[in-house]
Amino acid sequence: MPLMSRIAWVDGRYVEHGEAYAVHIEDRGYQFADGVYEVIHIEDGRLVDECPHLDRLARSLGALAIAAPMARRPLQRILREIARRNGVEHGLVYLQVTRGVARRRHAFPDAARPVMVVTARSEAHPAPALLEDGVAVVTLPDQRWARCDIKSVALLANVLARQAASAAGAAEAWLVDRDGRITEGGSSNAWIVTVDGRLVTRPADNAILDGITRRAILRLASEQGMKVEQRGFTSREAMAAREAFFSNSSSWVMPVTRIDDTVIANGRAGSLSRSLNAAYRARIAELPRMADGLTPMGNWTP
Ligand code: PDD
Repeated sequence: MPLMSRIAWVDGRYVEHGEAYAVHIEDRGYQFADGVYEVIHIEDGRLVDECPHLDRLARSLGALAIAAPMARRPLQRILREIARRNGVEHGLVYLQVTRGVARRRHAFPDAARPVMVVTARSEAHPAPALLEDGVAVVTLPDQRWARCDIKSVALLANVLARQAASAAGAAEAWLVDRDGRITEGGSSNAWIVTVDGRLVTRPADNAILDGITRRAILRLASEQGMKVEQRGFTSREAMAAREAFFSNSSSWVMPVTRIDDTVIANGRAGSLSRSLNAAYRARIAELPRMADGLTPMGNWTP
């Protein structure tokens, strides 16, 4: 592919990525992290689960009383155009909406126009070796706020946790609540398979983000006849599990083969993780391509 310059959508215009520094200094996203975002994976020219992502965006905006920046169809066109202009066939689109620009004061401004930024980048698939050998996670106290169900750009606690994981040579941090239960990862949902073969993940309460990948996995698991339990689990239970994995849009089903210093089972990806991963990939391959036009509206409520 010829070298392409990167293009971003910034508040109403397509601009060169390198020149895209013109968000206002009093944008509330910048000053208060007063905004929300989505990351949508692109696989083989397909926007994976575009509608559920846009529905979740609408939910996050609604929870913070931020107006939708535009109707859904023009937004869907921008997602495609950004992917096309950046030549992204495998990768992701990132989309962020802040409350807008206003003189700094904590309470909402009387009138602010939401500001949207969209970027896209190519990214390799999760490496087959990782999906086979799995990755390590470290457990850390969950220091986030009480509304982790909102996909807010206020990610400082997640950033610190991921940095600590990275410094420890781990791929993810599993966050532990005050009751000793794992909530989720720094940027993923957490799962285990118990010794008697039950798939366990925390229910989608306010302590976690209800991952779009999580929902797909729950559906696939029940289609495959797996026994599924949505309940909290402790790190100790996770360390004794038959399998563990985390999920998000870009890592799909990522086997976890070490938690802190404990190797999980035989230290390789387990059979349920593998079969869920295969089912997830097969499902992605059946989704419509961006080139086929806009996917149906779903229940968008701007
Ligand atoms: N993060 N939990 C958290 C805290 C997340 O940040 C994410 C996704 C998920 C998984 O959600 P999904 O399956 O819809 O990707 C769970 C994205 C990828 C990010 O921040 O980059």
